[in-house]
Amino acid sequence: MANWDLQALRSDFPILGSSVNGRPLVYLDNAATSQKPSQVLEAVDRYYREQNGNIHRGVHYLSQVATDAYDRAREKVARFIGAPSPRDIVFVRGATEGINLVAHGLAKCWLKAGDEILLTRMEHHANIVPWQQAAEQSGARVVVADITPSGEIDLEDFTRKLGPLTKVVSFVHASNALGTINPAREVIRLAHEAGAVVLLDGCQSAPHFRVDVSVLDCDFFVFSGHKVCGPTGIGVLYGKKEWLERLPVYQTGGDMIGRVSFEQGTTFREAPEKFEAGTPDIAGAIGLGAAVDYLDATGFDAIEQAEQKLRDHVAPRLREIPGLKIYGDVEAKVPVLSFTMDGIHPHDIGTILDTDGIAVRAGHHCAQPLMKFYGIPGTARASFAFYNTTEEADALVASLRKISKIFA
Ligand code: ALA
Repeated sequence: MANWDLQALRSDFPILGSSVNGRPLVYLDNAATSQKPSQVLEAVDRYYREQNGNIHRGVHYLSQVATDAYDRAREKVARFIGAPSPRDIVFVRGATEGINLVAHGLAKCWLKAGDEILLTRMEHHANIVPWQQAAEQSGARVVVADITPSGEIDLEDFTRKLGPLTKVVSFVHASNALGTINPAREVIRLAHEAGAVVLLDGCQSAPHFRVDVSVLDCDFFVFSGHKVCGPTGIGVLYGKKEWLERLPVYQTGGDMIGRVSFEQGTTFREAPEKFEAGTPDIAGAIGLGAAVDYLDATGFDAIEQAEQKLRDHVAPRLREIPGLKIYGDVEAKVPVLSFTMDGIHPHDIGTILDTDGIAVRAGHHCAQPLMKFYGIPGTARASFAFYNTTEEADALVASLRKISKIFA
C-alpha cells in the first residue's frame, strides 16, 4: 500500500477514462465484470498479431509458440490459486461451465438415487440449476441450507442438514448479491467429515483476496476470467487430481482423445486435456495469464486495503440516506453493496444513476431464491474494485441522495 499510486494504476485501464451521458464514467458493476488493464489487452492482441497458431504442439513455429503460451497461462493460474500442479487446472468458458462440468460428471460417477446435494440459499443460479439437473439425472435431491437475515450461512442449519446422505456440498465463497464472505475452510471441513465432495464457487472471491485451494482443501474450485481483469469466455475449474481422474468426460471431440477407432472405440487423454475438447480459447487463456500476473504484481494486500478503505468510506454514507437499506451489512464481505430504497424500484435506481454516468447492476442478480428470502424483487448493487476512487464513491452517494429526495 505504501507505493500505491491509484492514478497510475487507473491509467492502466483505458476504459476508466471514458464518459457516459456526458459525465465521467463511474464504473461500479465490477461484480458483473471487471475492467481490463492494457497489459491484458496487449497480451490478447499480441497473441493474434504475432503468435496465432493452434495448440497441437505442431511442427511449425507458431503452433509451438501458441502451445507454450497456453501452457504458461495454465501454470500462472495454478500458482494464482495455490493449486499443487498446473495439471489440476482445466480451462473452461467460465465458472458456469466449470460447475456444469462437475455436476454432470458427479451425476454419472458419484450420485445415486436418494443422495443429497447440499446448497445454500445465497447461491446464484449457476450454482443451483446444474445441481437440479444432476439431481434429475441421478435421482438425488437438492437440499438447501438457510442463511441468517444478515446474509451469512446459518451454520446450525447447515450442520443439521448435513448428514450421511449428503454426497455433494456446493457453495459460494463470497455472495455476488450480498458480498458476504462465507467461512469456507470451516464449511469444507464439516462437509468432508460427512463424506461429501465439495465445490467452492470463487467467482466473487478470486478478484478480491488471495485464494489458496490447497489450504481451503476444496475438491473443486471455479472462477471466471472476466471478473479478475481477464477476458470473457475463459474460466477455470480446479479439481483435486483424484477427482479430475474420476470424473467422466464432458464434451468430446478433437484434442481430448487418446485414440479414435471405428473398430475399437475411443480412448481419452488424462485431465486436464480430457475436459478440453476442440480448439480452446487460446487468446482468452493467455489474457487470463496476463490478468493474474497483473493482480499478483498489484498485490492482494494492497488490493484488500484499498477495497476496505472504499467500503469504510461509502457504507456509513449510504446508511445515512433516508429509506436506504443495505443487505448483507456485515463485516466479512467483499466490496459489494446491495441496497433498496423506499418508494423506488431497483431498476429505476440503476437507470437514474446511469444518467449520472454511474454503472451499477439492478435486479435479482441471478439469485432469485435469495431475493425471495428477503421478500424483495431485487436490489441495486454497487460493486467496487481496487481501481475505484473515493471520489467515485462520493458521486454514487450524491446521486443516491438526490434520488432519495425526489422519491421520499
Ligand atoms: N454473476 C454476475 C453478477 O453478479 C453476472 O453480476
